[in-house]
Amino acid sequence: MTETIIHVKNLVKTYQTFKKQPGLAGAIKSFFIREPVAVHAIKATSFEIKRGEFIGLLGPNGAGKTTMLKMMTGLIPPTSGTSTTFGRFDTSRRPREYLRKIGMVMGQRNQLHPDLPALDSFRLSQAIYDIPQTQFEARLNRCLDLFQIHSKLNIPVRKLSLGERMKMELILAILHEPEILFLDEPTIGLDFSAARQIRTFLAEANSKFKITIVLTSHYTKDIEELCRRVILINHGSLIYDGPLDGVDERVQGERQVVVTASDPKSQAEILNVIKSLDGVTVVNGEPSDQKNNLPALEHAENLTITFAVPARLVGETTKKLLNTLAASDIRDLTISERSIEDVFSEIYNRAEVSPPANLNSTIIGGSK
Ligand SMILES: Nc1ncnc2c1ncn2[C@@H]1O[C@H](COP(=O)(O)OP(=O)(O)OP(=O)(O)O)[C@@H](O)[C@H]1O
Ligand SMILES: [Mg+2]
Repeated sequence: MTETIIHVKNLVKTYQTFKKQPGLAGAIKSFFIREPVAVHAIKATSFEIKRGEFIGLLGPNGAGKTTMLKMMTGLIPPTSGTSTTFGRFDTSRRPREYLRKIGMVMGQRNQLHPDLPALDSFRLSQAIYDIPQTQFEARLNRCLDLFQIHSKLNIPVRKLSLGERMKMELILAILHEPEILFLDEPTIGLDFSAARQIRTFLAEANSKFKITIVLTSHYTKDIEELCRRVILINHGSLIYDGPLDGVDERVQGERQVVVTASDPKSQAEILNVIKSLDGVTVVNGEPSDQKNNLPALEHAENLTITFAVPARLVGETTKKLLNTLAASDIRDLTISERSIEDVFSEIYNRAEVSPPANLNSTIIGGSK
């Protein structure tokens, strides 16, 4: 059986901040009277990661991903709970032996010295980690080949482009042959080509160098191409832990149907019929969804009803709908597959997702 190398148990992070009063008077008041506020960035969260996995840690802005990575790497201590790695290291204590075994790239934070060429930082890493020369050269050359970036080795890092700098950061992160790599949005702001090179590099780091990778990214391409398992967090709570296919199956297995009614009266009728059909979920179109409560007729978008239906029922459902209603009630009807972005944003809004029954995934109802 594959070894569990990360064991996160009931991990909690609550940041303490202070309430800011609006305006200058408020700022002065806050200076003297500080009202504490607790930010519950991570609520009790547990999961395990096995050696060799490539995990996508996903969630909307502010979900708690960076906080989770920081606790797993020992950058910040948890409020409670534990993060144990390799069965023996308590990451909050930042044991040296553990730090040698991990690499880290935080998109917004540089490990490379900006005034030095990347090669100097690589040599420094070689000295710190005591990497034998032949091993150092072999790995560095492999990385430089993958990125085709040999010519930029001797240029001060601050003169490199964003993409070149990120590639150098990644090389630095894996030179000492870490066993786990933590990456916080490594492709943020990169063009298609640089992002693709980084994905190829990470795929190789995982498959050839056998590095276990935990990645956060808002780019679905990164997730689709690399992560076999995803952990979704929202509002600090774990809402899905399982194979990407598990999310995908729900998503790709559904079709989205948008019906545009001819007038508000027809819209109400269409909605009634849709609600009477089996397996259908109304996504948008209830009177309460309508924007600003403006009269529907003045706003064509208010006349649409969107519903989701399992792919296998889509033909039957639309046929029933069209047969039940008068032709003049419906102005337009479109059927589309939902993109993975749509699915994730729906999951984030709902904060709960049910996996397909045959998949051994963990589902925890999140809080909104
Ligand atoms: N040092 C801090 N002090 C107070 N609150 C913080 C601190 N760091 C993060 N937070 C808050 O904790 C929550 C989680 O933040 P975190 O950076 O972990 O989110 P994230 O999922 O990484 O978001 P993003 O996708 O935008 O990077 C947010 O509400 C954030 O404002
Ligand atoms: Mg973040």
